[in-house]
Amino acid sequence: MLQPHIPSGSCPDASRLVRVLKLELRGITKRFGSLLANDHIDVVVEPGQIHCLLGENGAGKSTLMNVLYGLYEPSEGEILIDDKPVFFRGPGDAMAAGIGMVHQHFMLVPVFTVAENVALGAETTKAVGFLNLEDTRRKIKEISDRYGFAVDPDALVEDLPVGVQQRVEIIKALVRDARVLILDEPTAVLTPQETDELLDIMRQLKSGGTSIVFISHKLREVKAVSDTITVIRRGKVVGSADPGDSTTALASMMVGRAVSLTLDKAPPNL
Ligand SMILES: Nc1ncnc2c1ncn2[C@@H]1O[C@H](COP(=O)(O)OP(=O)(O)OP(=O)(O)O)[C@@H](O)[C@H]1O
Ligand SMILES: [Mg+2]
Repeated sequence: MLQPHIPSGSCPDASRLVRVLKLELRGITKRFGSLLANDHIDVVVEPGQIHCLLGENGAGKSTLMNVLYGLYEPSEGEILIDDKPVFFRGPGDAMAAGIGMVHQHFMLVPVFTVAENVALGAETTKAVGFLNLEDTRRKIKEISDRYGFAVDPDALVEDLPVGVQQRVEIIKALVRDARVLILDEPTAVLTPQETDELLDIMRQLKSGGTSIVFISHKLREVKAVSDTITVIRRGKVVGSADPGDSTTALASMMVGRAVSLTLDKAPPNL
């Protein structure tokens, strides 16, 4: 699982060796009673790539990611890391394998500080019931400086703008050494400026060797940041697309019929 990841153009340097994962979802099927939310889905997330899952509301994107993060047991199919099948009994197993997830709805405690929230998530306890806040504060500063997050470890979460709260969620995952980061509709809660900042953060994470599974139905963002696009419709993969494909082509693939977009520009909700 340990492989050298040398950013292109740089010299080999032991301090820059990071763990990169190849992740594969093979034949993942998830049923809720008679509802087939995921129908034999195959997706390969190559190391160090931003892989977009593009699909309309209800397509099955979050369900698939909840399976990957160990929250749901698949009805069928398997997850492979570096070509070896893995079984996750819960998110703890997924995290231990290097997978982190920022959910559509954040999981932060508003009345706690950033460091307290990160420490809670990372379970960095010195003794049962005591959070190792000093270590956590130091790690937050390190990560924040490395990626230009500008997050104050001592700020109260409820005082922070949504975009910064989201960075706290990303830090929570990075503190736990996530090598694949799942971002479930991360831009739905952001202003256009915050969205552009997040896209920059995603590019930086990628250049540091972190793979990202980016869930979205907004074509501008998808085209701006993705390396690979998998389109999901009604629980099935309907194909792969290229970020260079036109918004019209992507929109048609996503909704399953010809879509006419004036001047090839997506409407605001795409
Ligand atoms: N826990 C659940 N129990 C029953 N049905 C569910 C459950 N979770 C999701 N579903 C159903 O599975 C289908 C896929 O939902 P999912 O949330 O995965 O879609 P999505 O692509 O993430 O959509 P959105 O863009 O709205 O977030 C939907 O029909 C949804 O109602
Ligand atoms: Mg969803």
